[in-house]
Amino acid sequence: MNQLFLVVILSFCSLAHGRSAFFDTFPILQAEHPTLRMLAQEVELNEIDSPRFKSFIKDMFTTMKRNSGVGLAAPQINFSKKIFVMGGFLTGVKKRVMINPEVEFIGEPDKISREACLSAHEHGPQRVPRYSKVYVSYYDENGQFFEQEFSGYTAIVIQHEYDHLLGKLVIDYDESLYPWIEADNYVEIPYPL
Ligand code: NI
Repeated sequence: MNQLFLVVILSFCSLAHGRSAFFDTFPILQAEHPTLRMLAQEVELNEIDSPRFKSFIKDMFTTMKRNSGVGLAAPQINFSKKIFVMGGFLTGVKKRVMINPEVEFIGEPDKISREACLSAHEHGPQRVPRYSKVYVSYYDENGQFFEQEFSGYTAIVIQHEYDHLLGKLVIDYDESLYPWIEADNYVEIPYPL
């Protein structure tokens, strides 16, 4: 009887918060959802210090991990704010939180990257033009400001997640518009983003 009561309460909490009651994970929105097409809003820097924000970041990592992802942006879980998380054990990408990131693209797109998006599940992996290097300014989960250059795998993850903050998805790209990119500059991203 007590157990049944607990299940009812937990299910109610789950409905109330739009998340799973048993794991700290959020459902991932799919391509047709309007939140994925919105321009995400800036995070107020005084929000970063709150326990609620810290717990949200932790739950973003848990959601990413449970979906075997290497990156996850807040709009994908129906929160239209400029936040994404990335990386983790075995992915080859360092764990990072980027809040209010500004990305500067260096040079021209010179790679075609094959990426599977957690929010475009039924479309499968897509080939997307990407830059080899990006210069990023962002705040981390402690509110510390960084300006850094990234290349390789991490730079591609950043470009994918940054697109989510702009309301852009991998299915929006047309590979044929980038004829100068040579076939030997094709890369494969092994985890969904
Ligand atoms: Ni994605």
